[in-house]
Amino acid sequence: MSMSTDSGLRPYDPLDPLIRRNPYPWYAHLRRHEPVKFLPGMNAYAVSRHEDVRQLMLDHAGFSSDPLIQLAFSEFNPAPGARYMIASDPPDHTRLRTLVNKAFSRRALTEMDDAIRATITGLIDRLEGQTCFDFIEGFSSPLPVSVVGDILGVETSMHADFRRWSNNVTAGGSAAVLSESQRAEMHKDAADFRQYFLERIADARAHPEDNLISALVEAEEHGQRLSADEVLALCVLLLIGGNETTTNMLANALLTLRDHPEVEREIRGNRALIPDFLEESLRHTSPIQLLFRRATARTQLSGVEIPEDAIVMPIFASANRDETVFAAAETLNIHRPDLRKHVAFGWGIHMCVGRALAAIEGEIALNALFDRYASITLAVEDPELCDAFYLRGPKSLPVEVQRY
Ligand code: HEM
Repeated sequence: MSMSTDSGLRPYDPLDPLIRRNPYPWYAHLRRHEPVKFLPGMNAYAVSRHEDVRQLMLDHAGFSSDPLIQLAFSEFNPAPGARYMIASDPPDHTRLRTLVNKAFSRRALTEMDDAIRATITGLIDRLEGQTCFDFIEGFSSPLPVSVVGDILGVETSMHADFRRWSNNVTAGGSAAVLSESQRAEMHKDAADFRQYFLERIADARAHPEDNLISALVEAEEHGQRLSADEVLALCVLLLIGGNETTTNMLANALLTLRDHPEVEREIRGNRALIPDFLEESLRHTSPIQLLFRRATARTQLSGVEIPEDAIVMPIFASANRDETVFAAAETLNIHRPDLRKHVAFGWGIHMCVGRALAAIEGEIALNALFDRYASITLAVEDPELCDAFYLRGPKSLPVEVQRY
């Protein structure tokens, strides 16, 4: 590690590949010495303490979500004309979120339990006979796309295309350099994404079925239907929002278990602990490390002046290691009493709509993997990281499994 400042750390930069490998010493330094720090390379203010992150997430009037889509999709936005829920503020956010909440309520999810279980069994059955495989390609990446695809009501044969569209469209926003051919391919993916869902939306208008696209199409709010572009933006957002995040949650969980074999023994022996393990793993290694907001007026956070229109960057992964909130925060402890104070799903009005779904997918998946395999050994020491700089998770995760 190069030593170039008084602290012994080079200046924090979330794009720096060396820092990305293990950002936690930088987060600790920021929390202690520079809790709100302007990063010239990002042109953004990094916010690293739990209390400040929570405060800015709660103050949706002071910190707007409007820069999010541009930062994530850049020029590859499949629904450029529409307002995305994640990038909208009240009252639009409230209108859109109310429509979506129903589909992700605990009750709706309980009804989907069997379908999720069947999807997971199907994925594990497909791996039958293989002792070495890429956990991401074979399991943790197809899983969330299949589950959200079923909720939306789109054909199973399209799931592989969704993964490609969704991964390419999100990588676009954070890739530093793209070749002309990559750019062309991503434009085509965004166009295909758009075209496919516009056709499904037209189908749902003509022949409504029992799925989320039909429900959204039928939804009326103050007597007004949502526009086709808004339905399109919601479909894209749900596919993308639930995709790489859930994939990374599961892959990071395997990495965490590799580093804590005693925890694996404990949760294999007492399956009721799996939900707590997943929450603690999300706190400890957050799939979304950081996101962005825009200050709508001049303000202050932790005594630092933030100008109007400045971009502010809450670092969830740092807030989740804040020792003033979590005792021995750097240490994994599935029995900590305040597990659910983590902000891996955000906080406030935009708090992840899919968090209960992610928890159910994770619980069923780990149970099924433990049932099928006596051991899952990672065949790589230090896997390469996924492309998007604001996410954390391995790009691929070769594993060696032993069946019972
Ligand atoms: C472990 C998995 C997941 C993690 C870590 C995660 C994380 C997050 C975070 C941090 C936010 C807040 C964004 C903000 O405040 O700007 C968020 C919002 C959101 N998430 Fe998730 N998410 C996960 C799974 C899912 C799933 C499974 C879905 C859907 C199927 C989903 C859909 C969404 C949507 C639509 C929003 C926007 C909510 C709004 O604007 O009101 N997420 N997620």
